[in-house]
Amino acid sequence: MKPIRLDPPPELSMPIGEAMFSQRAIRRLKPDPIEKAHLKILLDAASKAPNGGNYQPGRYLFLRERSSVETFGALYHEAWWAKRRDEGHAWTRREEIPDDSVFRMPALLADEMRNAPLIVLAFGLHAGMAHSVFPGMQNLMLAARALGIGSTLTTLHPQVIDRVYALFDVPEQAEFHGCIPLGYPRGRFGPTSRRPTNTTTYAERWNQPPPW
Ligand SMILES: Cc1cc2nc3c(=O)[nH]c(=O)nc-3n(C[C@H](O)[C@H](O)[C@H](O)COP(=O)(O)O)c2cc1C
Repeated sequence: MKPIRLDPPPELSMPIGEAMFSQRAIRRLKPDPIEKAHLKILLDAASKAPNGGNYQPGRYLFLRERSSVETFGALYHEAWWAKRRDEGHAWTRREEIPDDSVFRMPALLADEMRNAPLIVLAFGLHAGMAHSVFPGMQNLMLAARALGIGSTLTTLHPQVIDRVYALFDVPEQAEFHGCIPLGYPRGRFGPTSRRPTNTTTYAERWNQPPPW
């Protein structure tokens, strides 16, 4: 396949700092559809990400048809709760999760996935290519932010993987890496809270503080 040159779309004119520093997990989504032109911009942005040897093993499968999103949403819900079970949590319903738990909002997303206007599933063509797929997912989510579209990076659970592959004809050799629900936010973007980088960065040697 002949590679193509893409110019940056004018729709992505938001300063990169604003996009990066206000992007956060948006789990409450409006049902409004995402137009086709914006969908293409998201995937074009993903394609521009760094990847090993420019082999470009990332493959993206998007779901917009209601029946697909709803069927996938039910599997996502099952997967999310399977992870909680594996972690030893006794909860079985969102209402049982304490208000201050970090699982409270993700549990809401598990319920809401079936209503997302758009879901993008990211795969590597073969096993072991995650390093070349995750940069594409991040590009896609930054482009979404610039377009005013909210997103959250999520994963699945082995319990549902075979059914997801069968549902969408995903070949066995492709490796699933992420599931990104997207839509216009019910709520606002950023700011996010993170550890100060002088607690996560070392200068020259492990544990040696940076000069800030
Ligand atoms: C590998 C990975 C897995 C994640 N899984 C989930 C998930 O299952 N459900 C969810 O709601 N958010 C998930 N997230 C989103 C994180 O919870 C979110 O990025 C983090 O809490 C920071 O949130 P903020 O950017 O809104 O501050 C995941 C993020 C990553 C990178």
